[in-house]
Amino acid sequence: MTMLAIIGGSGLTHLRSLTVRKRRVLQTPYGEPSAPMVYGAMGGHEVIFLPRHGHGHTIPPHRVNYQANLWALKECGVSHVIAVNAVGAINVAFTPGSLVLPDQIIDYTYGRAHTYFGSSPEPVTHVDFSEPYCEALREVLRDGATRARLALVSGATYAATQGPRFETVAEIRRLERDGADVVGMTGMPEAGLARELGLCYASLSVVANFAAGKAEDAIDLKAIERTLESGMTAVRTLLEHAIPRLYDAS
Ligand code: HPA
Repeated sequence: MTMLAIIGGSGLTHLRSLTVRKRRVLQTPYGEPSAPMVYGAMGGHEVIFLPRHGHGHTIPPHRVNYQANLWALKECGVSHVIAVNAVGAINVAFTPGSLVLPDQIIDYTYGRAHTYFGSSPEPVTHVDFSEPYCEALREVLRDGATRARLALVSGATYAATQGPRFETVAEIRRLERDGADVVGMTGMPEAGLARELGLCYASLSVVANFAAGKAEDAIDLKAIERTLESGMTAVRTLLEHAIPRLYDAS
């Protein structure tokens, strides 16, 4: 059965068009998720919403309990996860405000609990992660963008950095040499954990700024906030168009 969850990132702590039915506080073997799960309906379809940084946006990227978040979603019967991520553009073809659908990811994070297969006495388990995002869900998002008449760049490599500080110019040059197009702080270990749980997971990334050294001006946090505000309006519109496709297709 199809059941969609949306993990909201910076700038998306609630979903305007979600008719809230209930909130559910969950405990997991890995601790507490970022916030109670918000159950609601969008266009008549049941959706669960989880703000990654907490309802008041108080949890920084390196402190998010990714294990608890994904585990709790699985526990709620979720099959598909759309993760919304704010990113900086390394590839300057992606201007602030652009919506991007990454197809690859490189993990530069450290010290985050990144696997469910680390501590038990079970045999060593590996998962295939060659294609880190679920193509069926990427297709639904592309279709939603077309219906909403929104531009969506499909295909980009996401560099997941530790944060919470932004990168140096040299770090961005290195990520560029590595082949990354966008950089964000929350893409991993979330995508890997979703794969370990067998969830169909895709990231919808919103470009908030040009990455360090990629614009004349220094990174301006106020400008990022403004860009994210309009970017998230586009995200909501895209989701409203994509969700019926997901449920109709299954
Ligand atoms: N770097 C890392 N994460 C980000 C950025 C950035 O420039 N912009 C938004 N999230």
